[in-house]
Amino acid sequence: MKNKKTVLITGGAGFIGSNLSEKFVEEDWNVIAVDNSITGTIKNFESIKNSPNFSLIEKDVSLPLKIPGKIDLILHLASLASPVKYVEYQIETLWAGSLGTFHTLDLAKEKNAVYLLSSSSEVYGDPKVYPQNEDYWGNVNPIGPRSMYDESKRFAEAAVMAYHRSYNVDTRIIRLFNVYGPKMKIDDGRVVCEFIRRAINKSPIQIYGDGKQTRSLCYIKDTIDAIWLITQTNGFNGEVFNVGNPDEKTMLELAKLVLKHTESKLKIEFLPKRTDDPQRRCPDISKLHKLTGWSPKVNLSEGVKKTIEYYKNQL
Ligand SMILES: NC(=O)c1ccc[n+]([C@@H]2O[C@H](COP(=O)([O-])OP(=O)(O)OC[C@H]3O[C@@H](n4cnc5c(N)ncnc54)[C@H](O)[C@@H]3O)[C@@H](O)[C@H]2O)c1
Repeated sequence: MKNKKTVLITGGAGFIGSNLSEKFVEEDWNVIAVDNSITGTIKNFESIKNSPNFSLIEKDVSLPLKIPGKIDLILHLASLASPVKYVEYQIETLWAGSLGTFHTLDLAKEKNAVYLLSSSSEVYGDPKVYPQNEDYWGNVNPIGPRSMYDESKRFAEAAVMAYHRSYNVDTRIIRLFNVYGPKMKIDDGRVVCEFIRRAINKSPIQIYGDGKQTRSLCYIKDTIDAIWLITQTNGFNGEVFNVGNPDEKTMLELAKLVLKHTESKLKIEFLPKRTDDPQRRCPDISKLHKLTGWSPKVNLSEGVKKTIEYYKNQL
């Protein structure tokens, strides 16, 4: 029991954090989830809440973190993550990316823990390079309507590299590209669950713009497998990795897939294009693939089907 490794997961009650908490409990790690429940829910811990390896600390990471005992690994995921939510909580988003990142980095420094930041493809903004590899610096509007999120992630990445260079903290940054799947809140506002929510509620699916804009959507199981490998492999200190599925799909294709798997004949409505909504997003994942052999296994049709089943069971 004493030799078990301990991981602290901020944002642990959220979509990705709770799936990661389950994975680490399964792998026989002690898991400490830290969350202020702004978008997450303790219902996501149903399968592990009684495990002796699991504990939850209800706390805002924008405040200093004092956690007793040894910690081997810190995964900093706490952030508003849905475009609907980060626009609603603009200041809190910037706090989680700045203060939250400093507090978790200070904890990593104190505990001599490996540190992973969950960053985002949004650091590339509306990219001018396809596909985006980790060396691309991005095309971000620093004062635009999504800037509180994009810049909070860019600042967080700079803070991680500063702690890595100044204090030798063993860090990894992952840039996630549109993850979807079970445990994502159905009213979260992100595209896959929003289309499914509308289809289940029998309301027309709404697309901003002409539907030709693309996203690369990665199923949660593939994302968790990638994060597991990135945290368990030696030699990744100071590295940055794209994590996503390069299989680019238009929003119109996604809408049609959701209609097919929900067996609905609903209309698709086209709304005006949103400001700063990127036209194309596609990760270059060759770096991670070359170093670990990882590549996504779940195709969009299969992933959407599994996600619809999950939501139907929840309802
Ligand atoms: N899901 C994606 O497609 C995606 C893509 C790119 C990056 N990310 C990043 O991955 C991480 C997890 O995203 P998610 O999709 O699971 O979102 P989520 O909203 O489901 O989870 C975020 C969690 O962080 C918690 N949280 C927010 N602010 C906090 C604070 N100040 N203190 C403590 N807890 C706080 C929320 O309550 C929630 O449980 C985020 O950092 C997000 O930016 C996600």
